[in-house]
Amino acid sequence: TSVELGEHRHYMHKEIFEQPQAVIDTLEGRITQDQVLVSSFGPKAEQIFKTVEQIHIIACGTSYHAGMVTKYWMEDIIGLPCQVEVASEFRYRNPVILDNTLFVMISQSGETADTLAALHQINHYRKVHDLDGITSLSICNVAESSLTRDADMTYLTHAGPEIGVASTKSFTTQLVVLALLLTSLGKVQKRLSKERESMIAGGLQKLPNLIRMALEHEEEIRDISQLFADKQHALFLGRGTMFPIALEGALKLKEISYIHAEAYPAGELKHGPLALIDETMPVIAIAPLDDLLEKLKSNLQEVKARGGQMIVFEDERSDISSETSFKVVKATTNVGRITAPITYNILLQLLCYHVALIKGTDVDQPRNLAKSVTVE
Ligand code: AGP
Repeated sequence: TSVELGEHRHYMHKEIFEQPQAVIDTLEGRITQDQVLVSSFGPKAEQIFKTVEQIHIIACGTSYHAGMVTKYWMEDIIGLPCQVEVASEFRYRNPVILDNTLFVMISQSGETADTLAALHQINHYRKVHDLDGITSLSICNVAESSLTRDADMTYLTHAGPEIGVASTKSFTTQLVVLALLLTSLGKVQKRLSKERESMIAGGLQKLPNLIRMALEHEEEIRDISQLFADKQHALFLGRGTMFPIALEGALKLKEISYIHAEAYPAGELKHGPLALIDETMPVIAIAPLDDLLEKLKSNLQEVKARGGQMIVFEDERSDISSETSFKVVKATTNVGRITAPITYNILLQLLCYHVALIKGTDVDQPRNLAKSVTVE
């Protein structure tokens, strides 16, 4: 391939470290110090965004996880109804689609067969039911792709070429674009105050630095990854937007280290997965300083009481103690609601990468997987 590996052992590692720049490139020309430029979505965006009554996000894999984070953001920050669905489900059911729905198709490659088929399904439905309030927006990393060709509007992530099969910088830049979408919708529909907009814009400007700070934890995380040398299972826990981040961590671990991993919203533990916990099952918890921290702490006590080994990624100001069964990475300070999931995910990427190195797998080309799934 024409993309150089440079000093990195794997493309995945290189791409993890490219994230500060990928965010800068994705924000370029689309944001000012305190504003998001709605016009960056195209000349018709403002008019379309005014009429949108609900969002329906469709994607696969990691791109689907970006959609899940967005559902929390959309309903919480601007109060716009938002649902998220995997493309392979959407395309084979008979969905009820309401007029004035904005469909957001997220795909790094723009060639994923299921996502593309879902878009075609939407286009067909719109024609048959004569609903002209339905619009599709593709969020893609590849400009000339099938998805960008067939969607009404396109917004590019400028992550640059992603070679590793495991998606890293494309996920991060998708979330950046989705934050811009959320802010634009909120602004046009007057669901977002100027102060709030300026806070989000400011947070996004700070993001490259927050990511750099997260990347500085690599050595510490590499040491922790030793714990997985003889492990076959892992459980990721998070609440709120950290639940999709937990899912993304579990997917990444499965893909590149072949360790069986699951993710649960921490509150669901007691409804079943707690039965799995013993000393052979590391539990990875994502614990930002937010309204849910106290709840999460009591979930972690439940794990501890059953002899589970815990790895906690937490805020510098949190106080989840460093007892023997807890390995704590004190990572991020001053992350906001938008920047937190993006920043914590970087730490999980590093963890999964280093676990894969220990397991000796083919990190960039894991067995049985393809970079883009263009067949069913
Ligand atoms: C992520 O690490 C995966 N390899 C995979 O889940 C991927 O995100 C999915 O296949 C969707 O791909 P796309 O974004 O190109 O549509």
